[in-house]
Amino acid sequence: MELIVASNNPGKIKEYKDILEPLGFEVFSQSEKGIQLEVEETGTTFEENALLKASAIYERCGCAVISDDSGLCVHALNGEPGIYSARYKGIADEHGRRMAILEALQGKEDRSAEFVSVICYIDESGLSHMFKGIWKGWIAKEESGTNGFGYDPIFISEDGNGNTTASLPLSFKEQYSHRARALKQLLAYLEK
Ligand code: IMP
Repeated sequence: MELIVASNNPGKIKEYKDILEPLGFEVFSQSEKGIQLEVEETGTTFEENALLKASAIYERCGCAVISDDSGLCVHALNGEPGIYSARYKGIADEHGRRMAILEALQGKEDRSAEFVSVICYIDESGLSHMFKGIWKGWIAKEESGTNGFGYDPIFISEDGNGNTTASLPLSFKEQYSHRARALKQLLAYLEK
């Protein structure tokens, strides 16, 4: 069965191909199917944004589609940056966004946070299914580590032994992250 990943991110597409092709899916990126589309994320939740992206592709191809939306939610900041993680406070670079979080948390005792990942799978008949992964932890006092991307240098997961995610091997993240958790649920569903 053909399945399209609603993304233009090569890393994400490779990850889905590696996992889903052994299950018998023929996995394509949207550009491999000639779909040039950058969907505006106008939703107010991770679920809404994931559905927006997947539906836009489904409407064009009528075959199974996967999309995901993710971000970091910091409790003392009322869940920010949340769905705005990729453009927190309009700051263009990842380092700048991390520093903005550290600054916003100055003087606050509660540094708890979580990464969230929602995968939306639209099956061939057009039905959508959501899978949500949550990775709990807290925000470090300063950046450290060079692995990963985004907020990894300031996120310490509850299973990270006090290390930021960026200080741990990528294999750790692949096994325990919010994305890994959502993906495990999707796989359990597809294998049924
Ligand atoms: P996307 O919508 O999945 O592309 O992710 C939106 C933003 O959330 C990214 O640009 C990152 O800033 C942040 N984010 C999501 N997942 C991670 C992660 O695993 N590590 C660090 N930052 C992440």
